[in-house]
This record gives sequence, structure tokens and C-alpha cells, in this order.
Amino acid sequence: MTGRARKKGSTPAPSAPPDDRLRLGGTGRSHPAIGLGLWALGRWTREDEARTQATAARALEAGVRWFDTAEVYGTGRSERILGDVLRRRAGGGDEVFVTTKVSWEHLRPAQVRSALIGSLARLGLSSVDVYLVHAPDPHVSITETMGVLEELWTEGKIRAVGVSNFSLTELHAARAALSKAPLVVNQVLYNLFDREEGDALADYCRAERIVLEAYTPLARGLLTGRYLDQEKPPAEVRRFAHRLFSPDLFPIYRERARALRALAVAAGIPMAALALGWLRRRGAAPVFGASRPEQVDEILAAWAARPSEDVLDRADAIARGERA
Ligand SMILES: NC(=O)c1ccc[n+]([C@@H]2O[C@H](COP(=O)([O-])OP(=O)(O)OC[C@H]3O[C@@H](n4cnc5c(N)ncnc54)[C@H](OP(=O)(O)O)[C@@H]3O)[C@@H](O)[C@H]2O)c1
Repeated sequence: MTGRARKKGSTPAPSAPPDDRLRLGGTGRSHPAIGLGLWALGRWTREDEARTQATAARALEAGVRWFDTAEVYGTGRSERILGDVLRRRAGGGDEVFVTTKVSWEHLRPAQVRSALIGSLARLGLSSVDVYLVHAPDPHVSITETMGVLEELWTEGKIRAVGVSNFSLTELHAARAALSKAPLVVNQVLYNLFDREEGDALADYCRAERIVLEAYTPLARGLLTGRYLDQEKPPAEVRRFAHRLFSPDLFPIYRERARALRALAVAAGIPMAALALGWLRRRGAAPVFGASRPEQVDEILAAWAARPSEDVLDRADAIARGERA
């Protein structure tokens, strides 16, 4: 990334607030167009927790309003850290938009209820903005799960229902199982390099006014310019983003990423602006990860840089392996 060097101890002015919004279909409410995810790749040592806390606090200070977490992230630690950050915030936490998820292992009605109670307690909230099914479980009927989510929505404990990692077919089934509450979000893997299902889902979601939340928007840093020269992807990155970083595919994607870097340099924008601008143009809402406050600043600066349509067309072609 092309972050500006900062003097030790100095506090930078917050970036322009990333306050653009998408409509949250059927609710009359809106959904922040970019958010910070607090998965932290399973690094949950005490030092990592402190860094995650500082990173989330930095994002809040810089105007990020959407925070994504899940009961499985650090087995509750991520939700607890977010809860702490929100509690410490001057003026309370009413303006933030929080998404959390029920584990794919807890999709029976009684399990969903108790998972939500645990999440709300850790977050220190009385309701969440969108409660997502983290991933489908083929052994539990979606009708059962959606039934209890609709009850929780009626009770006001969740403000909207969402899903994650649902294919188009699974999304249809989930929507059909709801009678009153709209399904407002599908959160999926989607970035310039990981897009087979995502492209079709993005088209469908845009037409149906469902927000497509794009996770891993930076391809674990590859789309910020990481791992293009000396730095090698560490084992944890290879493990969690295995397709792009597999031994046979990585050299191909590294070459494409180098071409994207050259495009960004020529356009005078940070490389991540291509990844984020491309998602914005597809109507998707990126939920990015960061392990240090400085990364938040760099990503927000990239979000604020608006690449031209022509540059985005060329980025799209490069990412697909065509010559720009
Ligand atoms: N629903 C699901 O199943 C699911 C699955 C995965 C993720 N998610 C959500 O999506 C969020 C983001 O996922 P992700 O972490 O895979 O996405 P990502 O945004 O593609 O990757 C984040 C990583 O990129 C690197 N990075 C970020 N900014 C950088 C910068 N300015 N310069 C250099 N490197 C930078 C950091 O790596 P280092 O930390 O190594 O420096 C950071 O941890 C998660 O936190 C979670 O909320 C959801």
C-alpha cells in the first residue's frame, strides 16, 4: 500500500467518513457501503486482541459504521472486543451497524436462540442490525432456521435477517422459507480474483434489493500489493485463502496482481482502490479485514479514491487474465 509515513506519536486527521450507503431492501433503512470485519484470521493472542481493539477503535474514529463479526470468531472474543470498543465510545453505540452470525453448527431453533443471547451479551447490545446464518447446514432444514429467525425479528432482537455463503439455490430456499421478514443480506467471498459465484449473486441481489456483502475483498492483502515481491504469504494466509494461494494458482494471480499494481501506479491511485472500486461498481459492499490501525487508514484512503470507469474496465480485464 502507498500509505503516507507518519511521525511516531502523531495523530492523523481522520479520513473522510466512508458514509455512503446502500438501501436495505424492504426495511426503509440503509446499509453502510463499506465495513470492517473482525475475524482476525484466528490470531487471538493477548497482543493480537489489543491490536484488534485498536484497529476497530481506529475505524470507528475514522467514520466506519459497519462492523462484522460472528460467534465463531475467536469463539466469542471478536464479539467481546467489538462490544468493548462500542461501549467505550463517547455518545453510545446507537449509530453503528452491527452484523453478526450464528454458527453453521447452531441452526436448530433452540440453538439459534441461545446463540443470539450469547452474541448480544458479548456485544452489549439489545439487538443486532442483521443476524446472518454463517453458512448452510445440509442436515438442518432451512425452514426451521428461518422460522426461528423470523420469531426473533418479530420480537425485535434482530433488526433484519441475512445469510452468508449461500448459493443462488440456497438463497431462493431461504427466502421462500420466510413469510414476513425480508432477507436483506448475503455475505459471500467476492473480489476481483474470486468471482465465479459472486458475479451471478451480485446480479441477482442487485435486482432483488438484497445487499451483497463481499468478504475477503482484498484477497488477503494480495490486492493491496502484498506478496508481489519479497514477502511470501504466511501459512495462515495460504490456509484460509487456499485457492488463490495454492502452489499452482498463486504464480498466475501474482502476475495479474503485478499488472493491477502497474495500472494503479499509472492511474495515480492506491492499488486497493481498484479492488474496492470494482466491488462498488458491482453494487457489492466490501467488508475488509485489518490487523493494524494504519491498514484501516490506507483502506479508507483507497475507498475515497474513485477510479475512472475505464481504469475499472482495465482492472476487470487484467483480473480475468485478459490483456488490459
Ligand atoms: N462469512 C464468512 O464466511 C466470512 C469468511 C471470511 C471473512 N469474513 C468477513 O470478512 C472480513 C474480511 O475478511 P478477510 O480478512 O479475509 O479480508 P481481506 O480484506 O481480503 O484481507 C484482510 C487482510 O489484508 C491485509 N491488509 C489489509 N489492509 C492492508 C493494507 N492497507 N496493506 C497491506 N495489507 C493489508 C491484512 O493482512 P495482515 O493482517 O496479514 O496484515 C488484513 O488482515 C472478516 O474479518 C470477516 O468479518 C466472512
